[in-house]
Amino acid sequence: MPRAFNFSAGPATLPEVVLEQAREEMLDWRGVGASIVELSHRGPEFMGVAAEAEADLRRFLGIPDDYAVLFMAGGATTVQALVPLNFAAPGQRADYVVSGHWGKTAIKQARPYVDVNIAATSEAGGFVDVPPRAQWRLSPDAAYVHITANETIHGVEFRDTPDVGDVPLVADFSSSIASEPIDVSRYGVIYAGAQKNLGPVGVTVVIVRRDLLAREGQPRADIFDYRSHVKGESMLNTPPTWNWYLAGLVFKWMLAEGGVEEFARRNARKAAMLYDAIDGSGGFYRNDVVPAARSRMNVPFFLHDEALDKPFLAEAAAAGLLGLKGHRALGGMRASIYNAMPEAGVRALVDFMQDFKARRG
Ligand SMILES: Cc1ncc(COP(=O)(O)O)c(C=O)c1O
Repeated sequence: MPRAFNFSAGPATLPEVVLEQAREEMLDWRGVGASIVELSHRGPEFMGVAAEAEADLRRFLGIPDDYAVLFMAGGATTVQALVPLNFAAPGQRADYVVSGHWGKTAIKQARPYVDVNIAATSEAGGFVDVPPRAQWRLSPDAAYVHITANETIHGVEFRDTPDVGDVPLVADFSSSIASEPIDVSRYGVIYAGAQKNLGPVGVTVVIVRRDLLAREGQPRADIFDYRSHVKGESMLNTPPTWNWYLAGLVFKWMLAEGGVEEFARRNARKAAMLYDAIDGSGGFYRNDVVPAARSRMNVPFFLHDEALDKPFLAEAAAAGLLGLKGHRALGGMRASIYNAMPEAGVRALVDFMQDFKARRG
């Protein structure tokens, strides 16, 4: 049976060659007579896999040496709680800029540990834009400024790194990391759950500027302390070895395909193809996000008549196009078109959308 094109927001489609390699290596990793997932995380085999994954990630994201890289369990949501615990003093203020659902979860996780200042939010307009930088009310004494680089549900993306002066910028890049080159040195902390652009769910990448590790933060258990994790090379306790290994295979695939520069070109073409189809549908399909903030990774769209949602999804699935149902918070449809979604997948979706419209329009 041929593989479907899977537009799921995360867990999301993975490169077929990576899945094939994982299958090949499943029972016997490189002749050792066991799977990598059965070996000790402290043994030379997995230590080698781990080190290579970090080196590859550093290479294709251009991560400078004065940044530590962690591979953590717990997902991006856990990072949202650990950031204030590690980088804000008790009672200190932190600025949050909210451009969608995940900015709000970041605040929910941070509130017990920090004096949250909502410096700007585009909620009143329905999260169809990022709040314009000129309107942010930043606090001079903030521990950090938090943004969500790409809002996975609302499909709203920062196209430029905002200037926040000397206050560290903390960015949730869960759904857009590695989709284009970024200047890591503009950020204090970058974090991303792997399950969209980097690999399988279960491992989260945290990139921390090392000088921030000198901050005292707040009383916390060792296991919540990034200093300890950096010192322990992400092996303070048993790390998610299978997920780390699989992410490492995805990193090698990205490098072989030409790195983030090449993915930025492909992603721009894929996004343009899909938005053009939506905008050119004469109102049959609709995306409400202002064009300058439209995500190139997650494209929410609505059919002009909600009654068509069910047949659209059923016929799409029958045509081998999966995972198009929108998040329950928004309804409608959403196509997630991460690095591993080939251009042929987006072409197939656009062809299907045009055919559906011709039959139902
Ligand atoms: C932008 C963003 N941040 C945070 C999360 C939460 O991630 P996790 O489920 O890994 O905790 C998600 C999940 O989809 C997300 O898209």
